[in-house]
Amino acid sequence: MNKKPIEIFIEKIQYSADNIESLKIILSKKRNKNDDLSKITIKLIKIKDSYFLSFVYNYKTNDQTKNYPIKDGIKLINEHLNNDFYNADLFTTDEIVQLFTNKNNNSLIKTSEQIFKPVVNLNHDNVKKQRIAINNNQYLQELGITTKDFKIKKDMHDKFRQINKYLEIFESIVDTEKYKEKLKIVDMGSGKGYLTFALYDFLKNSLNLQVEITGIEYREDLVLKSNQLSEKINFNDLNFIQGSIIETKIEDFDILVALHACDTATDEAIFKGINSNAQIIMVAPCCQKQIRKQLNVQNEMASITKHGILKEQQSVILTDGMRALILEAYGYKTKVFEFISTEHTPKNLMIVGTKHNNSINRKELFNKLKAIKNLFGIDFHHLEKLLDIKY
Ligand SMILES: C[S@@+](CC[C@H](N)C(=O)[O-])C[C@H]1O[C@@H](n2cnc3c(N)ncnc32)[C@H](O)[C@@H]1O
Repeated sequence: MNKKPIEIFIEKIQYSADNIESLKIILSKKRNKNDDLSKITIKLIKIKDSYFLSFVYNYKTNDQTKNYPIKDGIKLINEHLNNDFYNADLFTTDEIVQLFTNKNNNSLIKTSEQIFKPVVNLNHDNVKKQRIAINNNQYLQELGITTKDFKIKKDMHDKFRQINKYLEIFESIVDTEKYKEKLKIVDMGSGKGYLTFALYDFLKNSLNLQVEITGIEYREDLVLKSNQLSEKINFNDLNFIQGSIIETKIEDFDILVALHACDTATDEAIFKGINSNAQIIMVAPCCQKQIRKQLNVQNEMASITKHGILKEQQSVILTDGMRALILEAYGYKTKVFEFISTEHTPKNLMIVGTKHNNSINRKELFNKLKAIKNLFGIDFHHLEKLLDIKY
C-alpha cells in the first residue's frame, strides 16, 4: 500500500533528526480560523548531550517555546498535522519538503533541492557531528541498520543513536593524537559487531589513525559473520576471535572496551585490562546479578533493601561502584557516567578507567571496599576474586 504524504513527511523528519546536521520545520495554515495559535516553528537543538525538538508556538499576542525529546516531538508534529495545520515545510541540509493538505484532507508532498543551507544553531556552537558516513556504508547495511538505499531502518534509530553516542564518548575520552602511530584495541564480547565496526571505521577512515581492533566473542556464528564482513569491506585490521574473555590470550593492547558484556563477563574484561596494563578500560556493564544474590543487609539499610526493586537498584550501584573503586586501587582514574539515556536502552551506564602514574594508597582503597562489603553483607565481588585481593 502506498504511504500517505503525511507519513512520508514524518519519516523524513525522523530521518533528518537522526542523520543530518540541521533541521527546521514550519507548521502553518491553521485548520481552525478562530484558533489563537497561528504557526509553529520547530528546530533540532542540543541540550547537554541530548537532542531535542524545540517548538516555538506563535500566538496572536506572544510566542511560547517548549522542548521535547525527538520521539515525543515527532509524535506531536503528527498530531498537529492531523488536527491543527494544513501545511508544513521541512528544511534540511539537502532538501526542502513541502506538505500541502486541502479541506478534504487530501495531501500532496513536494520536494526540492536545498539551495541555501538553513541557518540552524544547535544550541550555540554545538553542531551535530557525523562521525561515520551512512551513504554507501556497507557494514551498516549488512548489519541491518540501514536499508538497501542507505536509510536508517525504522526500528534501528535507537541503535544508530547509541553507536554515535559511543563514538562521541570515545572521542572525548581518548587522546587519539597520542596513538597516531598505532592504536590497539580489544572489544570483549563484541556480539554482532555494530560498535566494533563503527569504531574501526571512525578511527581509521575519519581520524586516519593506524588502528588494530580485535573483537572477542563466544558465539562462533557471529565471529564467522563478522570476519567475513570485515574481509569483504577491506577492514584489514579488524579481526574477530572466537573464545571466552577470560581464556583468550591477548595481552598487547592500549584500550579495552566491553560493552554490555553480561554480568560477571564485565569483571573478566576489567581483570584482563588491568592485568595487561591497558591504558584505558571502558565498560558498559549489564545484568548485574552476582552481587544481588549475595546482598544480605543486617542494619538500617535493610528497611530500604526490603523492597525488591530498591534491592535490585542498590545491587547495580554496588556492583558498578565497587568496580570503579577496584579500578582506582589499580591505578586508574575512574569516571562513571550515563552512556545513553534510558529512553534508548536500560543498559545505560559507562565506567571508564584511565591509567595514571600518580601514587595511590591501595590499602586505604581496599579498606573502603571491605567496609562497603560489610555494610551490605557481601561475601565477595567477582572482580575482587579474579584479582585475588587480600585484605
Ligand atoms: C549483549 S551483547 C553486546 C554486544 C556488543 N558489545 C554491543 O554492545 O552491541 C553481549 C555479547 O557478549 C558475549 N559474551 C558474553 N559473555 C562472554 C564471555 N565471557 N566471553 C566472550 N563473549 C561473551 C555474548 O555472546 C554476546 O554476544
